[in-house]
Amino acid sequence: MFKGKTILTGVKPTGTPHLGNYLGAIKPAIELGKQAISQGGKHYMFIADYHAINAEKNPTVLNQKMKEIACIYLASGLNPNESIFYRQSDIPEIPEITTILYAYTPKGFMNKAHAYKAMVDKNRAVNKPDDDGINMGLYTYPTLMAADILAYDTDVVPVGKDQVQHVEIARDIAGAINAHYGKELLRLPEYYVEENVAVVPGVDGRKMSKSYGNVIPLFEDDKAIKKAIFSIKTDSRPMEEPKNPDEILVYEIYKSIAKPEQLKEMGEGLRQGKLGYGHIKNMLLDAVIAEVSQAREKYNYYMSHFAEVEEMLEDGAAKARPIAKATLKRLKDAVFGR
Ligand code: ADP
Ligand code: TRP
Repeated sequence: MFKGKTILTGVKPTGTPHLGNYLGAIKPAIELGKQAISQGGKHYMFIADYHAINAEKNPTVLNQKMKEIACIYLASGLNPNESIFYRQSDIPEIPEITTILYAYTPKGFMNKAHAYKAMVDKNRAVNKPDDDGINMGLYTYPTLMAADILAYDTDVVPVGKDQVQHVEIARDIAGAINAHYGKELLRLPEYYVEENVAVVPGVDGRKMSKSYGNVIPLFEDDKAIKKAIFSIKTDSRPMEEPKNPDEILVYEIYKSIAKPEQLKEMGEGLRQGKLGYGHIKNMLLDAVIAEVSQAREKYNYYMSHFAEVEEMLEDGAAKARPIAKATLKRLKDAVFGR
């Protein structure tokens, strides 16, 4: 599907990722990258740290989150010798390209972009002025994201549904520029939404999300993972009472991680009244630990040897920059008639 294509994934270093992020975003992104590379394509994977400063102003926190996200991707199987792995802020051509794209970004696009609209809605809900607490970084966010994408001649951008609009904006801006200069200065990107990625429920049954405080942590110790799993909502029915597994939250979470035969075992145990809530929570705990334990070791290693990671990121930037430079040159030559 990605034969010879250039795939680009970006991730904001905000919040410590949880099991939902891992299964729903991190693992699939790494997999897609590997797929593209195995079919002769390219995979860019970057940390969107310029995007993060719109919301986070504490340098210590920003640096910590950047380190965490870099180590999480490496620990989860990203291979920096195959994927081009870098930090957005190491590529100075990105803000330069952004400046050119601004001239082709209708303000109306920004008014409609949903990251901005969500903030306005939040303000309205509490009777604050529309633009309260909104900075220009957040407002113009889709143009910077367009530069992230267009700089590398990206064909495909794998995203969650919430980011589709942003990729469409990038495509529209690129289309407007190509039309104006009468040549293909920028490659038109497409978005790709993986439909069969499950939404992992949290311990209270709503979607697992850091904003709901219902997460199963990822790279914390067994005790912290256990505490979260044992807080999953259950009822007071006795073990012997046969239960429909699909009504049981522990089982729903297990679905996103268990192998088919493991899932079958839990399902049958519940239906036959042979497994109680304590049992099934322990089964889920074992599965989560089995899934993350190897990655957790690698994660701890990289976090305590960050100089190695820093070097990988710098290598990645050295590979990415010439491509961004070439794009910038094409744009400047066209725009300024050089
Ligand atoms: P959160 O909801 O915790 O704030 P984000 O909105 O930052 O998470 O999402 C980061 C990425 O993780 C997105 O690609 C999103 O689709 C994915 N993701 C978040 N929560 C889940 C979940 N519960 N199940 C599957 N994927 C998820
Ligand atoms: N906006 C994306 C998010 O919030 C992160 C991002 C920034 C991105 N630039 C990108 C994703 C370019 C894909 C391509 O998740």
